[in-house]
Amino acid sequence: MLEKADLPYPERIKNPEDIDRLVVVKMHHAQKKLERGFFTATSYEEYKEKAGKLLEQGVITDDLLENARIEEYIIGPVFNFDFFYSPLEEEMNPIELLGVDWRFETSLDGHVRLPAAQQLVLNDKQKIPEYTVCGHNTATVRESLLEKGFQLAERYVKATKEHYKPGIIGPFCLQTCVDKDNNFFIYDVAPRIGGGTNVHMSVGHPYSNTLWRTNVSTGRRVAMEIKKAIEEERLDEIVT
Ligand SMILES: Nc1ncnc2c1ncn2[C@@H]1O[C@H](COP(=O)(O)OP(=O)(O)OP(=O)(O)O)[C@@H](O)[C@H]1O
Ligand SMILES: [Mg+2]
Repeated sequence: MLEKADLPYPERIKNPEDIDRLVVVKMHHAQKKLERGFFTATSYEEYKEKAGKLLEQGVITDDLLENARIEEYIIGPVFNFDFFYSPLEEEMNPIELLGVDWRFETSLDGHVRLPAAQQLVLNDKQKIPEYTVCGHNTATVRESLLEKGFQLAERYVKATKEHYKPGIIGPFCLQTCVDKDNNFFIYDVAPRIGGGTNVHMSVGHPYSNTLWRTNVSTGRRVAMEIKKAIEEERLDEIVT
């Protein structure tokens, strides 16, 4: 989808022997259903060494490793953009930014809270971080970046309409990293309510609240859309 929409995503490295910068090797965790067996590497040697250790620990399998996606690791903060597309909206911009969130990931977030000296003496089992989501936090982005975020969403909505009719409806989440030159890279898309929108519950979010002048969580926004569709007898336009 990202390719079709000509959206920026982290460059894929097909062959592990070509690893020449920091990459993330992405696959499912072998034992923990729904979790990840991600690891990073900066060279083929490091890739082999870390893969070997994770295979030994049962975190990954040969099969998973063979089908893993290797992509450039974007060094910068993670911003999940929680958007909402309204097929019913005819006056305002049909794409709304409801909020921005980021996630707490274990054990990665524990690692970055350790001083370097302590990181370096961790044993093999503790050394390679996992990326299990265990919490969410709310965020805002600098004003000048908002426009770029909207452009990504506009291209994504357009591409879903072209390639997967009728296209995205309602909430979707673009999961992005921002590099040192303020370029966005989309590393994942949730074509549904993003998990991080839990932070909107009851309080809404600075962006949705500003737009609607009241507390608007993702759940409330969905309810507003359904109500509007019923009132305008257009329910068929928001369900598939
Ligand atoms: N290219 C990348 N550069 C930097 N960090 C990345 C990259 N890809 C993924 N990550 C990190 O890994 C985490 C999980 O990545 P991703 O969303 O691709 O996995 P997932 O299993 O699809 O997650 P979920 O289904 O929970 O959204 C991100 O939150 C981010 O911290
Ligand atoms: Mg994701």
